[in-house]
Amino acid sequence: MKPSPNSLREAKAIGRRLASLTAYDYPTARLLDDCGLDFVLVGDSLGMVVLGHPDTTHVTMADMLHHTRAVVRGVSKTLIAVDLPFGSCSTPELAVQNARLLRDAGADLVKLEGGRECLPSIEAILCDGIPLIGHLGMLPQRVIEERGYHIKGKSGPEADRLLADAITIDQAGASALVLELVHAPLAEAISKKLICPTVGIGSGNECDGSILVLHDLIGLFPWFRPKFATARTDVATAIQQAVREFSEEVKRSAN
Ligand code: KIV
Repeated sequence: MKPSPNSLREAKAIGRRLASLTAYDYPTARLLDDCGLDFVLVGDSLGMVVLGHPDTTHVTMADMLHHTRAVVRGVSKTLIAVDLPFGSCSTPELAVQNARLLRDAGADLVKLEGGRECLPSIEAILCDGIPLIGHLGMLPQRVIEERGYHIKGKSGPEADRLLADAITIDQAGASALVLELVHAPLAEAISKKLICPTVGIGSGNECDGSILVLHDLIGLFPWFRPKFATARTDVATAIQQAVREFSEEVKRSAN
C-alpha cells in the first residue's frame, strides 16, 4: 500500500531522511517502485533527458500527462510527484485546473517552481486538497531569463529572499521543498528552520533528503551530467555494447 503524502513531513519529524529519483516511463517506474524511495518525481527534466529539448521551458501539460500515466501504470507502492510545467500556473485558477488534471492522471503530489510570487497559486492548489512540493533555488523553468544554471543564495539579499520564500512555502503547508543549486550553508540553514523536509539537488549534504535525475545516477545521458551528480553505473555504454554485439552477430551469421 502507498504511504500518504503526509509521510514526507512525518519522516522529518522523526529524523528520517528522504530519497527520491525521477521516473518518466513504465519500465523505470516499475523498477524504482521496489527500491525504497520516498517518492518518484515525474520531473519536467523529461523535456531534456527524454524528449531532447534544450531546456524544460518546452514541456507542455500534454507531455506531463502522457508521462505521468505511464509512470502510474508501473508504481503501486511509492508516492508519485509530478511537475507543473512552464506556464501552467500563471494564475491561481490555471494552477488549480492543471494540478487537478495531474491528480486525475494519478499524481499524489504536484511540484511547483517558485517563491512568494507564486503564493496565490500554491495556496489555491493546497486549498483544493492537492498535496504540493515547492521548488526553490535555481529554477530550471527560468533558465532563459537567468542565463544558465547558477548556485543561488551566496549573497546576503538573495539568501534572505530564499529563506523568506522557504518559510512562506512551509507555512502554506507544502509536503516538502526541493532546493536546487542552493549554496550549501544556506540550504542547511533553511533545512533547520522548516518543519517540512527539504530535498536537495546540488545543495550540499545537509538537506533533509536528496533527489537526482535518474539518468545522471545511472549514466543514461552521457552528453551532460551536472558536476554534483556521480554516476553509479554506465547504462549508456552497456546499451551501445549490447547493440553493437547484436548488430555484428547478425551481420556475421550465414544466410
Ligand atoms: O524536473 C526535475 O527533474 C526536477 C528535479 C531536478 C528536482 O525538478
